[in-house]
Amino acid sequence: MSRSRSFTSEGRDRSGEVGGLGPASRKPPLWMHAVEYDFGRLSADERYKLLVSFVGPRPIALVTTLGPEGIKNAAPMSFFNVFAQTPPLLILGLQDRPSGAHEDTTRNILETREFVVNLVDETIARQMVVCAIEFPPEVDEVRTAGLTWRESAAVRPGRIGEAPAAFECRLERAIEYPSRWIVFGEVAYMHVRDACIDPETMRVRPENYCPIARLHGDNYVLARNQYVLRKMSYEEWCRREAASGS
Ligand SMILES: Cc1cc2nc3c(=O)[nH]c(=O)nc-3n(C[C@H](O)[C@H](O)[C@H](O)COP(=O)(O)O)c2cc1C
Repeated sequence: MSRSRSFTSEGRDRSGEVGGLGPASRKPPLWMHAVEYDFGRLSADERYKLLVSFVGPRPIALVTTLGPEGIKNAAPMSFFNVFAQTPPLLILGLQDRPSGAHEDTTRNILETREFVVNLVDETIARQMVVCAIEFPPEVDEVRTAGLTWRESAAVRPGRIGEAPAAFECRLERAIEYPSRWIVFGEVAYMHVRDACIDPETMRVRPENYCPIARLHGDNYVLARNQYVLRKMSYEEWCRREAASGS
């Protein structure tokens, strides 16, 4: 990973900025004017546009599933995140097609109750986008995109060998909304590329794990520009306040 700046443990770079975002002492601006939207008066398309444009960057799950007839499937989902460690829950938001039919991912998860969340870094970003093409159900997106299937350890759907990490999940619950399913997956097993983790501490190696995330439309970010922003303890905060007031 190439870093253009180096940071101290305080999160300050050599110019005294925190995280390189501006002088540490600068107060954030108080906005006096805002464009406002009453969500009760917006169309579904307008709500979607606003939500996905501003809630980001969102991590990407390249979800692999197995159809009831044994057909393998993969599709990226950015309505995705982790929500708990007990139980270990990953959650997906799956939109039905405009025709009203479920996506293959939704159908497969509801029928087989298993799926794998493969995480996406820059090495498989282009292949991830190929997996988003609305291929007919019989097309194996992983092979079509030039990726490699690997056996999973705890679930029947396979995982993607090139993914930096993969979480094997069992369906914990699924909530149905009009034209959308929210799917909760309980993680049963994890695979992680050895270069991306220190197995002694179980901590990520940020110089080797560089995920991409989705912004608006077809725009993505690469987690290259990382910086440290340490939270103070309450006692530390009080000491600093006292020192600055003297
Ligand atoms: C980066 C990215 C993120 C996406 N996120 C979602 C999502 O969160 N939910 C969803 O329903 N579709 C999402 N899509 C669209 C699906 O991947 C696409 O409809 C795909 O064809 C579904 O495939 P399937 O029918 O094999 O499940 C996303 C597409 C891309 C490129």
